[in-house]
Amino acid sequence: MPGWICERTIEGGERGAFVYSLFYSLTADWSEAYMAVSDMRSNSPGEARTRPNWIHLIHLAGLAPLALLAWDAFAGSLTVNPIQYLTQRTGYAAILLLIASLVCTPLSVVSGWKRILALRRPLGLYGFLYAALHMLIFTALDFGLNISLIVQEVAEKRYILVGTTALLLLAPLALTSTKGWQRRLGRSWKRLHRLVYLAVPLALVHYAWAQKSDIRQPLILGALVAVLLMLRVPAVRRRIEAWRRAFGGVSAADGSERTPARGARGR
Ligand code: HEM
Repeated sequence: MPGWICERTIEGGERGAFVYSLFYSLTADWSEAYMAVSDMRSNSPGEARTRPNWIHLIHLAGLAPLALLAWDAFAGSLTVNPIQYLTQRTGYAAILLLIASLVCTPLSVVSGWKRILALRRPLGLYGFLYAALHMLIFTALDFGLNISLIVQEVAEKRYILVGTTALLLLAPLALTSTKGWQRRLGRSWKRLHRLVYLAVPLALVHYAWAQKSDIRQPLILGALVAVLLMLRVPAVRRRIEAWRRAFGGVSAADGSERTPARGARGR
């Protein structure tokens, strides 16, 4: 993992190990319950029965940024500008989790591993959670919900408008992410959820624009997202699937090749 990512996520192995063990124990019951409910509700074992340890990892990845912020607050190391620090850290967590949710489909196309598709939803929801927190910190903590001051700031810093658009696009996706809404909306659900392909690039523009000078990180993440989106183009996807079948892909032993998940295609 590149140094700059480690530095910004988990600074110090000891703290990482502590947070891991803490959240592993905290999320264990929740994950089992989540798995049981998913299994009961779903007719698609390939999609729903992601092994519990993967779900633990997702909850860990989703909750770790919050735990690290709580740790920093507890240790009094929120820097001299704590509100800016909180805004930046939550924004960064949001963009990484949103991109992680976009990785699942291409990874499944390349590897033939369908079970990973069940991780898209929790990753996307955690991403949305941090984006909402990020906005709340900015509007409530930084500007005390003073509308005229916020409007003035947005007029000066247009990148905030781009970030707000990304968040507004993600809101209906988060609200309709349940199986109930998926059933109710039918085909439109898939179309609606394609908004993520617009929201994430907009969030990246917002990220790059918010940087004062060094835009290497948003550029690298932007290149990654471009590749991920390209892998979803039907022609590219078909070709990769054909190559995978020709050269073996994932063995059917894990059920991924022979039992493609119902509704696994799409997003
Ligand atoms: C999907 C939605 C959003 C994502 C993923 C996102 C992500 C980010 C990221 C990654 C940064 C740069 C953090 C850093 O420097 O390390 C940032 C900065 C910032 N964002 Fe967002 N953002 C989103 C929406 C919003 C919204 C809705 C607002 C406010 C209404 C907002 C306000 C800001 C501000 C003020 C900064 C600059 C912080 C600073 O350096 O002082 N963002 N955002």
